[in-house]
Amino acid sequence: MRVIERLDELYAIGGGPGANRPHPSAAEDLAFDVASAWMTEAGLAVETDAAGNLVGRSGGRPDVWVGSHLDSVPQGGRFDGALGVVAAIEAVGRAGFGTAVAFRGEEVGCVGSRAMCAPSRPLPAFFLELHVEQGPVLEREGAPLGVVTAIVGYARGELVLEGRPGHAGTTPMVDRDDALVAAAEEILRIRDAASALEGAVATVGRVEVEPGGSNVIPGRVRLSVDARAPDAETLDRLLSAIGVETAQRTEPVAMSARVRTAFVDELSARGLPVVELASGAGHDAGILAAAGVESGMLFVRSLNDGISHSPDELSSDEDVALAVDVLAATLGRLAGS
Ligand code: GLV
Ligand code: MN
Ligand code: MN
Repeated sequence: MRVIERLDELYAIGGGPGANRPHPSAAEDLAFDVASAWMTEAGLAVETDAAGNLVGRSGGRPDVWVGSHLDSVPQGGRFDGALGVVAAIEAVGRAGFGTAVAFRGEEVGCVGSRAMCAPSRPLPAFFLELHVEQGPVLEREGAPLGVVTAIVGYARGELVLEGRPGHAGTTPMVDRDDALVAAAEEILRIRDAASALEGAVATVGRVEVEPGGSNVIPGRVRLSVDARAPDAETLDRLLSAIGVETAQRTEPVAMSARVRTAFVDELSARGLPVVELASGAGHDAGILAAAGVESGMLFVRSLNDGISHSPDELSSDEDVALAVDVLAATLGRLAGS
């Protein structure tokens, strides 16, 4: 199947293990060049905007956008983002209407879709994003596809712990002010703060230790904090419990009722189970929805217990093919509305 071959081609860019197309990088640029050629081959008129996003317009309904992102986390999975772009090119190319889009830098704060939604830029009427679920719900429900109800709110920031660097051999334990020990306690405190709030999660994914010598007591540690919650109030409570200044915050956002209904109607018409679920991951669809675009997402069942942001990310060829068909048909439903 062409979609699977194209996912393999994108996955190979940047070298392994896993997908390595972080934003910004030569690997991300190459993925955009490859996708641009696929859009042209599908008969789309391709433009690259100032942020580097790709927009491929077909002959009709340019205001119905379909797409996702092409960047990846380090050592990411085969499907995250890439599936939504490859499927969009396929669906728009097949339908002969709509616009396929590929966004830059979703993993580092949706920089491409935010730039696309900047004030005074023309926005589409609809945005559809096909994505892997990245969680276990659909696999456990035995459903190949799911319709997204809402996207969680999330915020990212940093905590810096200061200590006193010193000699690892000569400084008695009682005299130490070790910033990494303080950071370890902080990480446990962050875990407990999230565990105490229904639906909240928090992650320290990056730890930078200075000066970083194996025989030097750490003097300074910088921790990244990623905090998420299904509603704004819980996110506020989580952030104040953690005590982190956030450089970036994205509010929880509901998906469009019209787009949800179009996906649900298409699933029902095919006799497929209808599972509706919220997304714990952030997505470009959330940025477009917050900007006022009627946006919706279709999830494809993730296998392997829903693992994602990992080379073990997996969805079956059959589920992917079905998802592309449902996406193309839903594009038709909305474009005709
Ligand atoms: C995007 O993948 C996120 O971090 O939710
Ligand atoms: Mn993604
Ligand atoms: Mn991701």
